[in-house]
Amino acid sequence: MDQSENTTANPRIAAGAETISDIIERRLSRRGFLGGLTAVSGLALAACAGRPVDAAAAAAHEMKRPAPAFSFPEIARALDQTHHVSEGYRADILLRWGDPLWADSPAFDPLNQSAEAQRRQFGYNCDYVGFVTLDPDTDGAPRGLLCVNHEYTSTQLMFPGIREDDPAGITREIALTEIAAHGGTVVEIRRSAEGWKPVIGSPFNRRLTADTPMQITGPAAGDARLVTGEDPAGRNVLGTMNNCAGGITPWGTYLMAEENINGNFLGALPEGHPETDNHKRMGVPGGWYGWGKFIDRFDVSKQPNEPNRFGWIVEVDPQDPASTPKKRTALGRFKHEGAESVVAPDGRVVVYCGDDQRFDYVYKFVTAGRYVPGETNADSNLLDDGTLYVARFNDDGTVTWLPLVFGPGPLTPANGFSSQADVVIEARRAGDLLGATPMDRPEDVEPDPKTGRVYVMLTNNDRRKPGEENAANPRHSNRFGHIIEITEPGGDFASETSTWEILVRCGDPSIAEVGATWNPLTTENGWLASPDNCAIDAQGRLWVSTDGNDDTGAADGLWALETDGQRRGTGRHFFRCPIGAELCGPRFTPDGETLFLAVQHPGDGEGANFESPTTRWPDFSDASPPRPSVMVITRIDGGVIGG
Ligand code: FEO
Ligand code: CA
Ligand code: CA
Repeated sequence: MDQSENTTANPRIAAGAETISDIIERRLSRRGFLGGLTAVSGLALAACAGRPVDAAAAAAHEMKRPAPAFSFPEIARALDQTHHVSEGYRADILLRWGDPLWADSPAFDPLNQSAEAQRRQFGYNCDYVGFVTLDPDTDGAPRGLLCVNHEYTSTQLMFPGIREDDPAGITREIALTEIAAHGGTVVEIRRSAEGWKPVIGSPFNRRLTADTPMQITGPAAGDARLVTGEDPAGRNVLGTMNNCAGGITPWGTYLMAEENINGNFLGALPEGHPETDNHKRMGVPGGWYGWGKFIDRFDVSKQPNEPNRFGWIVEVDPQDPASTPKKRTALGRFKHEGAESVVAPDGRVVVYCGDDQRFDYVYKFVTAGRYVPGETNADSNLLDDGTLYVARFNDDGTVTWLPLVFGPGPLTPANGFSSQADVVIEARRAGDLLGATPMDRPEDVEPDPKTGRVYVMLTNNDRRKPGEENAANPRHSNRFGHIIEITEPGGDFASETSTWEILVRCGDPSIAEVGATWNPLTTENGWLASPDNCAIDAQGRLWVSTDGNDDTGAADGLWALETDGQRRGTGRHFFRCPIGAELCGPRFTPDGETLFLAVQHPGDGEGANFESPTTRWPDFSDASPPRPSVMVITRIDGGVIGG
């Protein structure tokens, strides 16, 4: 989710003016016009961009190029009302917002929604997609559990008669329905001759919502700052929300990352309340939703500690729908984008996390205990004990991982930290004091277990002023983001020192002022802006999805991105979203033959609402609003995605 209106800022960075945006805007307005033409061919676009259009010359040039790691036909950068996938592939809808998960689930009825129905249906704004392989069915059909986050609710797109920034229109039932539309879904899926389908009524199916009972574990569990009127023990919380990206652990549990939790809180703290600075650093209360009008715990004037119970990583056992999810506070509290993990050579598990806010940080958590294949399971509580580190990206190309540990250095009572609980609750402020590097909105952070490399998506940061650049965030007014590649020495993901380099500065390479650094082999369709989520496929190849590529006049989507050899830094466009949507997921099955994508907030846009969305994808019925959906991508002739 793009939080461009969220003004919460790292206090180490002041707000300020931009200098080159006007130039870029002028150039992009031309590109935006091109992007809106859905039928523009690649050659026509090439001509407009001043590139060679002679087919024979282009073919001859192509012969001299090093072989690409990807062989799929590239799609055009463009923007229209539906999705598009590379030729030779099929893109099918698997699950839409409101689809039933059980035989008794009410049918989707957009004019008569209720919390009761929503709790039995697929939630809104699908984001993270995880896949846990199950044993094949009795007939040999492949099966798996899909674990899908539902990040947030777009009230004015979901419900009739609601206008953005009009909390007066929110009813109690709307607030409760939104609470039921947040969280996540665990659903069994099965592949037959007709392709992957959800198993309606599977005993694995589960909805997790913003009022599902959960347990708080780790250093902050039971701390006074987590105590509320409803929970005097500070150990039991209702719900998870704003679940953005996530991860599947080596032992098969599902990690849900709580991101922009601030928006769901209303009210004002009493003057001089001790949580004032802490809440301000997290942007609490954001006041984007009306929940606090009806439910006291979302009003900070009534329950000032409730926000401290969100902003964590939640661990769920997807194979046990009766299990109690656990908020693992050892991994810190901030706007967690994701939680991808990997096993270090000595067996410790490393979880990488981005804090998606302008000028916030990249983290990794290293468990104290070791993962033992076949023994470590959902009850192992491995994520309750370990060291949380925040990254300092040094100018010399090294990364220093700074431990967020109470006691040594500045994390002491003199600076307001009286325990490790304080350190994890205020991980951002701890990172400030340790001298972490303020980044350009860190989103997905994905380790590659085979190479020891880790890819960091930095979406953008248009508020970085001239003079505030650093080596790892080299552009001020960074509207289009960049991707950093960290190398863990010898594949030791637990190392306290790593190296880094920028894989690519994103944006339009034909506009010099943008400062993009694509490999020149990238075509006019192969560059992207605002990288958000990513995946590494079974062949070790990197795929990147975007949230904000529409700022360049073309839809968000998925690009393959080469990371090795002479083609390193070459992008290739594979899939694009309908208008208004960002693309989340992506997730490959272990055989690389299926790719799941989450199309989030289709139909959104300036002034868009239930009555007047920018598209009615995927149903294209006047009776249906747009519906965020998970899609399944397969090759028509079978085989591995991407060639
Ligand atoms: Fe929820 Fe950072 O995107
Ligand atoms: Ca995003
Ligand atoms: Ca995201």
